[in-house]
Amino acid sequence: MKKDMILVTGGTGYIGSHTVVELQKAGYPVVIVDNLSNSNKEVLDGIERITGIRPEFVEADCTDMAALTALFDKYPGIKGIINFAASKAVGESMQKPILYYRNNLNTLMNLLDLMGERGVKGIVFSSSCTVYGEPDVNPVTEAAPIKKATSPYGNTKQISEEIITDVINAGAPFKSIILRYFNPVGAHPSAEIGELPNGVPQNLIPYLTQTAIGVRKELSVFGNDYNTRDGYCIRDFIDVVDLARAHVIAVERMLEDKSPEKIEIFNLGTGNGLSVMELINAFERATGVKVPYKIAPRRAGDIEQVWANPAYANEVLGWKAETPIEDTMRSAWAWQLRLRERGVM
Ligand code: UD1
Repeated sequence: MKKDMILVTGGTGYIGSHTVVELQKAGYPVVIVDNLSNSNKEVLDGIERITGIRPEFVEADCTDMAALTALFDKYPGIKGIINFAASKAVGESMQKPILYYRNNLNTLMNLLDLMGERGVKGIVFSSSCTVYGEPDVNPVTEAAPIKKATSPYGNTKQISEEIITDVINAGAPFKSIILRYFNPVGAHPSAEIGELPNGVPQNLIPYLTQTAIGVRKELSVFGNDYNTRDGYCIRDFIDVVDLARAHVIAVERMLEDKSPEKIEIFNLGTGNGLSVMELINAFERATGVKVPYKIAPRRAGDIEQVWANPAYANEVLGWKAETPIEDTMRSAWAWQLRLRERGVM
């Protein structure tokens, strides 16, 4: 049976590109819309080398309603949306809050506006465990309280969840699945696509792999005096391909009307917390490559420990993160080596 077309906003980005691959593997025709603000067109080549299919691509900014309208005119068969298009650097959001609110919220509102009139059945929204702040209890379930956001970036995720809820409660003729990601890491095992941060990476894994390859002198490990088993922060590092697979299941669930609810929220994590030092050790073990590091002061705004209880997603979606962390570290490293081969860095 021919499957419905899916619009992937931000589809040339890190999680978006991996999701496009999984959608194509599941037989979905995909249209990507991306303004290439934090990615580039070569990602389309990488996707095509993996799946043999080049996704449709529209270079446009989702805050531009005229461009989005034209996109829906061109592709009237779109029945599902996965919305990745957003700015995501916590630090930058403190400097440029308007950029974050405008980008992230206008994109979402434009999509919600158009979905109703164009007969789109559902939207998957990329949210974050950042909505739980410093949780009172780990592992975190979806019922954990939402804490006040500590950055404009985090606030856009909370407000976006509220906008979706309000629009659907007002009777919008579509469904939504909100996915709260923990810490996505790694790359496609083919090393054809992966994470490509702009400038100096703020996140742990790209900084670590760039240090391992010699682009950065040493990794600063932010804080060793936390109240955790080894003193380092703890996160739930989830393989990006596992994460991508969950989006295919979520979109299918809405398109095939498998859910009784109009809005559902799922935590996407492994259920295992790893400390920053345990992750460095896993990388070294998996790749045989040493990572020079130093202990640095705590980073302002960091959460001490957070990891997921993914039982609800496991049961209801029939989805589970299954990639061992060593495999994920090897894919992250293979991707870094590929970037070197290509002369990117
Ligand atoms: C952050 C955001 C999260 C966002 C995610 C992706 C917060 C509280 N969370 O997650 O909402 O979705 O980025 O952009 O801001 N670390 C080092 N050295 C480094 C880099 C990081 O030790 O050079 C440590 C951090 O202190 C932290 C862990 O590694 O303990 C993970 O950091 P990072 O990859 O930046 O992700 P989060 O801060 O967890």
